[in-house]
Amino acid sequence: MRTRSVNRISAALAIFFLVFAVTIDLYWLANHRRLPQLASSHWMARIYRAYSTADRAYYDRPGKLEVGLEALNVCVTPLFYLALLYGMLRRRPWRYAVQLAAGSWVAYSVLLDFWVAIVGGYPGMQAHTFGNFFQFYAANAPWLLGHLYLVADAVRAILPVLGAAREREMSRREPVRVVPSFQTARNLRQRARAAGLSPNYWYPADHESALAKGGVIETEFWNEPIAIFRGEDGKIAAIENRCAHRQIKLSLGQVKDCQLVCAYHGWSYDCEGRVAGIPHDLFGRPMPRFRVKSYPVRVRYGLIWIFPGDPELAERTPMPEIPELEGPNRWACIPFSFVWRAHHSMIVDNLSDLTHGYLHRDRQAFSDPTLLRYEARGDEVYCQYRVKLLQAPLMKGLLDRDRPGMDRMDLCFAYPHQWGNSAESVKHWILLLPMDGRTTRIFFLFYFNHVKIPFTPWHFPRRLMMWLLRLMVPLFIKPLVSQDGEAVDWEQQGYESHFDAPLAELCPVVPLFQELVVRKWEEYLASQTQIRAVEAAQ
Ligand code: FES
Ligand SMILES: [Fe+2]
Repeated sequence: MRTRSVNRISAALAIFFLVFAVTIDLYWLANHRRLPQLASSHWMARIYRAYSTADRAYYDRPGKLEVGLEALNVCVTPLFYLALLYGMLRRRPWRYAVQLAAGSWVAYSVLLDFWVAIVGGYPGMQAHTFGNFFQFYAANAPWLLGHLYLVADAVRAILPVLGAAREREMSRREPVRVVPSFQTARNLRQRARAAGLSPNYWYPADHESALAKGGVIETEFWNEPIAIFRGEDGKIAAIENRCAHRQIKLSLGQVKDCQLVCAYHGWSYDCEGRVAGIPHDLFGRPMPRFRVKSYPVRVRYGLIWIFPGDPELAERTPMPEIPELEGPNRWACIPFSFVWRAHHSMIVDNLSDLTHGYLHRDRQAFSDPTLLRYEARGDEVYCQYRVKLLQAPLMKGLLDRDRPGMDRMDLCFAYPHQWGNSAESVKHWILLLPMDGRTTRIFFLFYFNHVKIPFTPWHFPRRLMMWLLRLMVPLFIKPLVSQDGEAVDWEQQGYESHFDAPLAELCPVVPLFQELVVRKWEEYLASQTQIRAVEAAQ
């Protein structure tokens, strides 16, 4: 198995630390008892003499701790660097485990060295001057920071894999009963739960950052497998995730130049899904003209968008317009996504029906919602709530509560996605990718115009807001919306067991969402029937 492209900074760091370990560190280990004698004749010994004002343990007073740490750094750690570089060269996934191990070990050993020096009162320092402190920490900082970077890079690569493995594990559950299809559905709820989302819209497929040059990822739209790859020229293409030859997933292959090469017999595909090369014998035949489906692609708001339907409609079909996320003065936003095991219509119900504030009671996200008005207009269902937002102690001070309208929230199911707005201060788009009838990927774009510095009348500047969001998203926003993910998973399970239970819906907006989903799906199915009839007549 091969993985995403190599992080060049990590590779350069591994090479630098390897070379240093087997030269300058090795020299110290071999000669640490006689460095003062060697200083007059050898440049490496002179380096340690220059450093000795900050720490004599590396010159004329070597201790057991330093010898032990350096012995490990010279004899063991280079093996990790070598394995890491080999893994990078061959793009082996285990390299991240090696990187994590080497990075955390060396970072730990530097911190241990610091701690021993601090606790012991810097016994190796000739004088406690600013220059000596600076030399002591500056000389060690590249090792600490470099290895922390290696750790962060490894964690960044490992976490999505763990997440995806967990999602795969979770998605294996089979339904306990056969739920009604769109055709056999007997009421609005059953029809909504069986409907797809029309493919003739733009859908986010992944975060742009998830696809490096030369990388390939897979996704699905309503059971249709899609491979998305980025050529060495940076251009992104989306094609059916199926080799025309033996139908294996193209996402198992790799990108060469600007083509996706199937892992089995090496057929290569261009951005339009055409077989552009076959590396083996053609048995005397001319080059065949096989192809798989391709999809229009756009990159916007940090997301890769695909148009799964009729490609001719792509150009004239608008996608969500979010001017706040473009231009130099854009609002602060950290996009994130989840795969939830639920039908997309349950997620729309969840997002726009605030009566479920009870679910979030421990986080006090919103309370006392009152539905002020609601309305179905064209392909949208709009509603407005009066609600107390973000009452949790940690979050309370961040909202500008004096701003007119901050006690209201506008929500709109703008088919097939959803947006929300609180007083032009906090807004969101929640974008749905219906992967199949019981799996939906949800992309969250929460964006903030004003965030208050708690207990002051001032707002955070935009740049600082981004840093604040980096804390808020994992600590508050993601755990909050994860509760919704769990709830819709329970609802999906409940529906599959009890789809014929009597309807018991109180919120008047929910049937409007369901009617819109059903109507749009009916329209799509009718358009397909029409197309087939025209094709048959020709
Ligand atoms: S299965 Fe893809 S090239 Fe043969
Ligand atoms: Fe919620």
